[in-house]
Amino acid sequence: MISIEPLDGPFGCAAHGVDLAAGVTVDHFRTLSQALYRHRVLVVKGQTCDKDAYLRFGRQWGVPIQHVVDTARMPGYPDLLEVGNVAKRRQDQLTRNSAAFWHTDQSYDADVATATMLYARKVPDQGGETRILDMKAAFDDLDADVRHRIDGLTAMHFYGATSGRDGELPTPKLTDAQAANVPPVPHPLVRPHAVTGERVLYAIGGTAFDIEGMPAEEADALIRKLKAHCVQDRYIYDHKYEVGDIAIWDTQMTMHSATPIGAPNGPGTERLLWRISVRGVPGIYAQAAAA
Ligand SMILES: [Fe+2]
Repeated sequence: MISIEPLDGPFGCAAHGVDLAAGVTVDHFRTLSQALYRHRVLVVKGQTCDKDAYLRFGRQWGVPIQHVVDTARMPGYPDLLEVGNVAKRRQDQLTRNSAAFWHTDQSYDADVATATMLYARKVPDQGGETRILDMKAAFDDLDADVRHRIDGLTAMHFYGATSGRDGELPTPKLTDAQAANVPPVPHPLVRPHAVTGERVLYAIGGTAFDIEGMPAEEADALIRKLKAHCVQDRYIYDHKYEVGDIAIWDTQMTMHSATPIGAPNGPGTERLLWRISVRGVPGIYAQAAAA
């Protein structure tokens, strides 16, 4: 029996009574996905599954994305990323904190991510939260004339486009070979959700750098203004992980930012999460989306 309860914050929910190791039935998946689309964040509590069971669950949400930073892919499991501070490559401060800025996963791809999930395997006593921002609430709070003005505009996106701005940590640069796989791409500034059709301001942090048909300075000012509006505490939920949590967020309706973390230096300081990002819509909605 699954129960869905609100999280302690402005939005989001937690699911109890799910066991990924045993598999998630279509009915249970429908309950979980409807909870995600309604609440933007869904934390599935108390999991003890292995990588294969986790990937099976990930594939119920869409097609796993192999990250453009190929060195971050997990050996033997290229659809998984190890996030945190324990991997050798994460001993570098910028690599360890490469998600510590407001962004939307894969907004630099033509075919964007529709959900991301992090499965907490090791959590530090202090810090290590993921900050998640409700873009729907932020969009709905914009003045009607602003919403009207930006709906129909197209933003350009590029990996690392606004790296290091607004006091955020810079994003490690892609190699030339990696960058060749992610040329600049356009996305609507106000984008409909692939399942619910809800329209929301999309990916205004991290990758948006230009707006088609608008002078560069004006576009930059608009992007900065919209981001500043979104990044307000009243729209943000900070998730403090417990081991066994799988935090899932709807990347079409949120932005997120990792809390910067130091290198591990003793008990209670290690952070390790397995990440899956997917594109497309869950199989159970695919037929409706295609119609
Ligand atoms: Fe991310």
